[in-house]
Amino acid sequence: MSDCSADEDPRAALAGAKLLLGITGSIAAVKAPGILTSLLRGGAQVEVTLTRGATRFVTATGLAALAGRPVRRFWEEGASPHLELAKWADLVLVAPASADFMGKAASGLGDELLGSILLATRSPVLFFPAMETLIYQHRLVQDNVRRLRETGYRVFEPARGRLASGEEGLGRLPEPGEITAIAGEVLARRRDLAGVGVLVGAGPTREHLDPVRFISSPATGKMGYALAAAAAGRGAKVVLVSGPTLLEPPKGVEVRRVTSAVQMRQAMGAAWPEARVVLMAAAVADFRPAQVAGHKIKKKDAALTVSLLPNPDILAELAGTDRSARVVVGFAAETGPAEAEARRKLREKGLDLVVANDVTEPGAGFEVDTNRVSIISVDRREDLPMLPKAEVAELVLDRVVALLRAK
Ligand code: CTP
Repeated sequence: MSDCSADEDPRAALAGAKLLLGITGSIAAVKAPGILTSLLRGGAQVEVTLTRGATRFVTATGLAALAGRPVRRFWEEGASPHLELAKWADLVLVAPASADFMGKAASGLGDELLGSILLATRSPVLFFPAMETLIYQHRLVQDNVRRLRETGYRVFEPARGRLASGEEGLGRLPEPGEITAIAGEVLARRRDLAGVGVLVGAGPTREHLDPVRFISSPATGKMGYALAAAAAGRGAKVVLVSGPTLLEPPKGVEVRRVTSAVQMRQAMGAAWPEARVVLMAAAVADFRPAQVAGHKIKKKDAALTVSLLPNPDILAELAGTDRSARVVVGFAAETGPAEAEARRKLREKGLDLVVANDVTEPGAGFEVDTNRVSIISVDRREDLPMLPKAEVAELVLDRVVALLRAK
């Protein structure tokens, strides 16, 4: 998670940054003074707010002494500091994030100062959940985690290890140094694609046989949408060419909707001149029916064979035109070990990177929020652990930024 490829030490971005540390009611709140100290050592300015639940584990007096300024809370101030803090903060950290607080935040509740700040801020927000494994894995908690991620917040997986109950499992708060490193990475990435044209292809294509039937793939578009959201968050001008999906378009992204591969080729070709980065995560159908019936094909008239025509290879066509100042990334979803196939696609399509995964692996591939990928270039292969797609997107963009700087 913290293996950022940026040239500089990501912690350097902390110096002078304005951070809001929100502490909520998990036993891991006892580690909050350590997080605060680590952020302050990195040179950040830190405002702290506690929820009522957090005060059972950690005191405002102690935190104020460390921060050198009062801890902020609605119910003591008699004022409404949420707007001021929401605008002031470059980054909001919720650490630890309790199940209770994530539920409130996922429902847009603002009865605590921290909840109101989340509603008012437009800066990145990072959640670090910490709780017992059984609670973390409860369907309602996982639904809340998904909602928070869909809202654009970054929710990090907790670490494995010994929990407060004495059991071993998933649910530990990462160490303060790791949280500080992640905050530094997020700040360092914030503007590193400022003004850069990024073109993303996402989702499946549909190749209709008749108005009610089509050939397609189970792709949901989640990886492509995560890439578009991450690029927009880093300041890029993003055009997202999307096949049919049920996903909400990410904030700050121009979406161009298409259905078939031929339409996707047209839309990608139109956006290509403005793009310096092309990220092609779409699951393009390789074939389309030779004939498309204008009406529903009836059982009694149906032929038993369907003739198919090959679709254009959109990425190969684009990468085959002038790409000297561009970075072009393909995705390869394979059903088995992916490297050899990914290398063939890298070479044959003339790409800078291929992000490869084995879709038969649990937790990777279609319809899930996580993925385990390898990032493959001519001279390197990097295997990432199982991560939320939003994290995979950030790490892919780290590699893209490094390649753009080298062009
Ligand atoms: N791709 C594309 N147009 C196509 C097919 C694929 O732009 N007609 C892109 C995909 O979006 C992806 C990359 O090419 O970024 C690799 O796609 P994949 O389906 O894995 O490979 P194919 O080229 O279709 O090769 P194969 O069928 O041999 O796996």
